[in-house]
Amino acid sequence: MNRLPKLDARLEEPLYRQLFQFFRDEILSRRMPPGSRMPPTRELASQIGLNRITISSAYDLLESEGLIRTHVGRGSFVAIPGQLFEEASQSAADSGLDWEERLSAWPPAEQPAGPAGEISISFATARPAEQLFPVEAFRETCREVLNSGEAASILQLGSPHGYPPLRHHLMDQGRLRHLLGEDDDLIVTNGCQQALDLLQRLLVKPGEAVLVEDPIYPGMRNVFARAGVRLLGVPVGSQGVDLDVLARLARSERPSLLVVTPNFQNPTGVTMPEAARRELLRIAAAAALPIVENDIYGELRYVGEAVPTLKELDQAGLVIQVKSFSKLAFPGLRVGWVTGPQPVIRRLAELKQVTDLHTDHLSQAVLLHFDRSGRLEEHRGRILEAGRIRLAAVLAACAQYLPAGAKFTRPEGGMNLWVRLPEPLDATALLPAAQRLGVAYLPAPVFEVSQRQPGGFRLSFAGLAVERIERGLMLLGKVFQTGLEQARASRREDPAPAIV
Ligand SMILES: Cc1ncc(COP(=O)(O)O)c(C=O)c1O
Repeated sequence: MNRLPKLDARLEEPLYRQLFQFFRDEILSRRMPPGSRMPPTRELASQIGLNRITISSAYDLLESEGLIRTHVGRGSFVAIPGQLFEEASQSAADSGLDWEERLSAWPPAEQPAGPAGEISISFATARPAEQLFPVEAFRETCREVLNSGEAASILQLGSPHGYPPLRHHLMDQGRLRHLLGEDDDLIVTNGCQQALDLLQRLLVKPGEAVLVEDPIYPGMRNVFARAGVRLLGVPVGSQGVDLDVLARLARSERPSLLVVTPNFQNPTGVTMPEAARRELLRIAAAAALPIVENDIYGELRYVGEAVPTLKELDQAGLVIQVKSFSKLAFPGLRVGWVTGPQPVIRRLAELKQVTDLHTDHLSQAVLLHFDRSGRLEEHRGRILEAGRIRLAAVLAACAQYLPAGAKFTRPEGGMNLWVRLPEPLDATALLPAAQRLGVAYLPAPVFEVSQRQPGGFRLSFAGLAVERIERGLMLLGKVFQTGLEQARASRREDPAPAIV
């Protein structure tokens, strides 16, 4: 149970009935799912300041309605319809251990609900297109790696910092691009996701404040939500995070960390201009605020000039940069890396060792060879060309099919753009209608920190061929247009207010 009941002794309805109603709602809305354990009466009594008899009376009523089942010595559980309940309670009795109770301290990681029905055009996932994977070149690369004299050392256990040849290769590239200074070091991780999780564990204590973009990549929100930190959203506008809000929060909340994605932010696709990046660094330096720069989309610029990364601009040693092969090459190989001040990387390596010893050598060796052999650059050329065409297609289709008054970002790279529908359209409410036509997207609440944007949703375009992008937006345009017409019609039907 995540929420505590709010009871009011001044109401006519007795307290045990208020408590009954509260749990009834929690159970029927599935906020307390079948099989979950009811809070023990003693514990709940002390939490909400009631006596146990009142709580037992509420539980009796819930049981008489078939909403919970009580097992002597084990407690009360939300009923599972029919057979299932008996089996579940039997297995709990057999094992003698209540796993739900044991695990209840951890909120479940939020996963966007999968699209309902048959989806033929999904704008919902920010993944590279499998059709563009150079599978034959990859097979050849694997063969060459396995046939090389390195095979035995690849199969041996290695360093938490990563497979040394890949690590040195990435460090050399980093030096050339001014991403790796004299006092910096580098560690290979299982993608950016693990890097963010390790950094969170290293740099933030429960209860401390962390500044993040709002809307945010949900995987990032999960990392910090599980750590029990205070996530403070900084709204993202057309120039990236709102620097006035950032400066105010950096002063008033004394955050331990700022996490930003200056290139092609997920979900908005927005890129911070250089001047904004410099100002952000100035604000962070004044507050001695460490920055994690998530540059997962940095290599995916389809048009326009590259902007120097925060890591390149940083003079104060504040920036820790996270990058990955996931968007440029193969997300399934799970290889990313962190570049940052030596003490940070040293401590990250300790944590990484505790977590999984090190990232899989074979994936690292294959990616290194894929890069050194020139195949990565070739693949990158194709990805960038496809991305450029798809980006142009999605922008044109948005302009053509979205209803008047809709606003959308104009990214120059990455995989996502952000749409805001005109009021009163609600992207969450309209999603089922889109799904009935076989089209999916992710609406704003999936990415929300605190700022509500009912008309907002993300369009991930990079994985879709041009015809699908155009057809998908044409169908979405129809759904939104119908939504607008229905809203207008219902407004006309509203009775005029009485004139007094
Ligand atoms: C902003 C952002 N950060 C991190 C990740 C996770 O990346 P990786 O596959 O490198 O773990 C993603 C994946 O979509 C992302 O969009």
